[in-house]
Amino acid sequence: MSPRPPAPRPPFPAVAGRVSRPVDRASDWEAMYRAGEDRWDIGGPSPPLVAALGRGEVRPPGRALVPGCGRGHDVRLLAERGFDALGVDFAPRAVAGARALARAVGARGARFERRDLFRLPRTFDGAFDLVFEQTSFCAVHPDRRDAWARAMHRALRPGGLLLALFLVHPYEEGPPFGTSRAEVRHRFVASGLFRLEAARVPAESTPARQGKEWMAFLRRPPA
Ligand SMILES: C[S@@+](CC[C@H](N)C(=O)[O-])C[C@H]1O[C@@H](n2cnc3c(N)ncnc32)[C@H](O)[C@@H]1O
Repeated sequence: MSPRPPAPRPPFPAVAGRVSRPVDRASDWEAMYRAGEDRWDIGGPSPPLVAALGRGEVRPPGRALVPGCGRGHDVRLLAERGFDALGVDFAPRAVAGARALARAVGARGARFERRDLFRLPRTFDGAFDLVFEQTSFCAVHPDRRDAWARAMHRALRPGGLLLALFLVHPYEEGPPFGTSRAEVRHRFVASGLFRLEAARVPAESTPARQGKEWMAFLRRPPA
């Protein structure tokens, strides 16, 4: 029998390493919220998103989706700025916390649904003008990254914008699972799902994330 040919090497260096804890089920994340192990929560909206809105790089009106929204800080901000904003998260505590915070500050236009982002209903297809991503892509198992990209492509209307903050730090284990610019280009652009319109390392990242976030403006091609 001839030896099996080696598996083709991916066109990007492997950066996401060992899985330190399970991440595929809602109960995995619910347990982290219950234990107070939610250091990803910066207590407010993502500063690079605030800056992008301030510069007019992202403009309301429109429907905005935030996958893996946690306590919904970015959803509230997008709603305050005039978007019809929906956050989805599959951890019950995240959704309950997001709803409670939105009620407490009277955030109109911010809605939250408990959903698995890999099992969004057909009514979500092409329904959004904007997807804002931060710390959801790095939270899913690296094997599911193509599925993540397809899910966001599906949710956006043709011509819609995926504004994503990718964690480009090569952590050896996750979550959070790091990525690289080359991997993002491969999965999102070379796949034909999106066009990369612009990208930068945002100056506004929180101190702990300085230099580790890469902000990409990815456009679903118009029909
Ligand atoms: C690292 S936390 C970030 C939360 C929020 N984006 C923030 O910055 O505070 C990742 C979030 O994604 C959610 N999540 C992970 N996998 C998911 C999935 N398949 N469907 C929906 N939510 C998911 C988790 O429940 C968790 O709230």
